[in-house]
Amino acid sequence: MGECRRLGSVLFILLLLVACASGEDPYRFYNWNVTYGDIYPLGVKQRGILINGQFPGPQIEAVTNDNLIVGVFNSLDEPFLISWNGVQQRRNSWQDGVYGTNCAIPPGQNFTYVLQVKDQIGSYFYFPSFAFHKAAGGYGGFKIASRSVIPVPFPPPAGDFTILAGDWYKRNHTDLRAILDSGSDLPFPDGLIINGRGSNAYTFTVDQGKTYRFRISNVGLTTSINFRIEGHKMLLVEVEGTHALQNTYSSLDIHLGQTYSVLVTADQPAKDYYIVVSTRFTSQVLTATSILHYSNSASAVSGTPPGGPTTQIDWSIEQARSLRRNLTASGPRPNPQGSYHYGLINTTRTIRLENSAPVINGKQRYAINSVSFIPADTPLKLADYFKIPGVFSLGSIPDNPTGGGGYLQTSVMAADFRGYAEIVFENPQDTLQSYHIDGHNFFVVGMDGGKWSAASRLNYNLRDTISRCTVQVYPNSWTAVYMPLDNVGMWNMRSENWARQYLGQQFYLRVYSPANSWRDEYPIPSNALRCGRAVGH
Ligand SMILES: *[C@@H]1O[C@H](CO)[C@@H](O)[C@H](O)[C@H]1NC(C)=O
Ligand SMILES: *[C@@H]1O[C@H](CO)[C@@H](O)[C@H](O)[C@H]1NC(C)=O
Ligand SMILES: *[C@@H]1O[C@H](CO)[C@@H](O)[C@H](O)[C@H]1NC(C)=O
Ligand SMILES: *[C@@H]1O[C@H](CO)[C@@H](O)[C@H](O)[C@H]1NC(C)=O
Ligand SMILES: *[C@@H]1O[C@H](CO)[C@@H](O)[C@H](O)[C@H]1NC(C)=O
Repeated sequence: MGECRRLGSVLFILLLLVACASGEDPYRFYNWNVTYGDIYPLGVKQRGILINGQFPGPQIEAVTNDNLIVGVFNSLDEPFLISWNGVQQRRNSWQDGVYGTNCAIPPGQNFTYVLQVKDQIGSYFYFPSFAFHKAAGGYGGFKIASRSVIPVPFPPPAGDFTILAGDWYKRNHTDLRAILDSGSDLPFPDGLIINGRGSNAYTFTVDQGKTYRFRISNVGLTTSINFRIEGHKMLLVEVEGTHALQNTYSSLDIHLGQTYSVLVTADQPAKDYYIVVSTRFTSQVLTATSILHYSNSASAVSGTPPGGPTTQIDWSIEQARSLRRNLTASGPRPNPQGSYHYGLINTTRTIRLENSAPVINGKQRYAINSVSFIPADTPLKLADYFKIPGVFSLGSIPDNPTGGGGYLQTSVMAADFRGYAEIVFENPQDTLQSYHIDGHNFFVVGMDGGKWSAASRLNYNLRDTISRCTVQVYPNSWTAVYMPLDNVGMWNMRSENWARQYLGQQFYLRVYSPANSWRDEYPIPSNALRCGRAVGH
């Protein structure tokens, strides 16, 4: 890229942008046909969303800096979008696939995403972001391996398994949507599923003595889960792109939208073992199991699957605090992860975000700093680019809790490129929150019970915390993160609880650079769909 930057001519830059963004780095092509099809996650037939006939959809397996060309044909009878949870679109929120950045793909039409997994490693997933389609499936794994020249802080595992687990409803997405639209909360889910299947439908086969990597994501709609493997320890190696200190865990709490990578050694007597997920912090506990099958297994699973942690918040918060980055390991680049001294950089701004559950016009809504997000008729990114007035206004969500009643607004927060924000998520409710921001990772510097104050900063971990893209906030607690605003674009900040997200607990962060340069942000792609007031532009 360095050479490309030095060229003065606009025309040359035009031509080279294409070459730079893609020329040196390999391409991977995916062609996806999105259809409805019969699935049986909880034993009953349901109409799910399939990608190329599969649920979960095909896994994306990329290497840092690869260019991915993903053609998506929408064979549903509803508009559709895919988004990439945790996969940063550097300079390219045009490809983010949420309704604030992209027009939904109309039924019977296609759209080709062109994205580069620039400077990123780790384990993520993609999912349908529009119209509550996530409740119908349509998700899949997304992993980004290190380039061969970059050392990875553990030996290559004998196998690499993806586990997409989460809660599931027997009611379909249009029925669930109708419940939410009518102003009610969703009922408790009907079950948990693992890779699209209910209990014991899925088997992971291992050879005794060998070590395997498991990448586990919570792709559910409303509940945290706990993950464990009977009789086996898990060595944590990666958290959403950060190589973690390799601590050993016997079970892991995984909140909505989060992903962990662990190494598991098949070091037990040759038989079959339960792989278990169960709901966390719910009065009724749902459980689903898969099988860890030793290839030389002498017996099938027996007895009841091991139970999850019985202690609640304290145990979980201790575990969250134990997640550390390995300072000497490399990330996507060869330099050690500790060479970026995130704790020594002065923050340029503090943003405090408080969630609430206001009733507005007689309907249940969810809000951040009292603003409950409502989509505009035009994607915000397009409105911004074409300067279409009246779609949104900057500053339509305050930087601090207001304590006032909730109101509806297409909320967009302005942010300066190259700023360094301290964001404090404050949760005064007795429900667990999980927050995600597109296009960025952040350093989880602190979390604790009670109310955050300036004095809470004294206990921040400014040395070796993990950097990730989705973080939990415990009930009546706070979580603080430091976030480099290093990606120009229009980015969705949202609850990963899909009902809350749908009912307004989200907003957009417009990271802006006055330079208006293609070094900071790519121009609008030539295939960008137009809709709403962007039609004709
Ligand atoms: C998508 O799949 C459906 C059902 O199998 C098929 O009828 C249709 O032709 C496919 N479309 C594309 C673009 O492959
Ligand atoms: C996808 O859409 C483009 C136009 O945007 C069209 O040229 C192409 O034929 C379409 N592909 C398929 C498989 O329908
Ligand atoms: C969802 O189920 C309802 C019946 O409960 C049905 O009317 C509707 O067509 C279904 N939606 C889809 C997308 O299958
Ligand atoms: C940290 O990473 C280094 C590689 O730089 C590796 O040798 C070491 O085992 C890792 N340590 C822990 C505790 O994860
Ligand atoms: C941070 O701010 C303090 C004063 O508030 C200043 O002394 C220090 O040099 C700054 N550090 C950096 C890295 O800019």
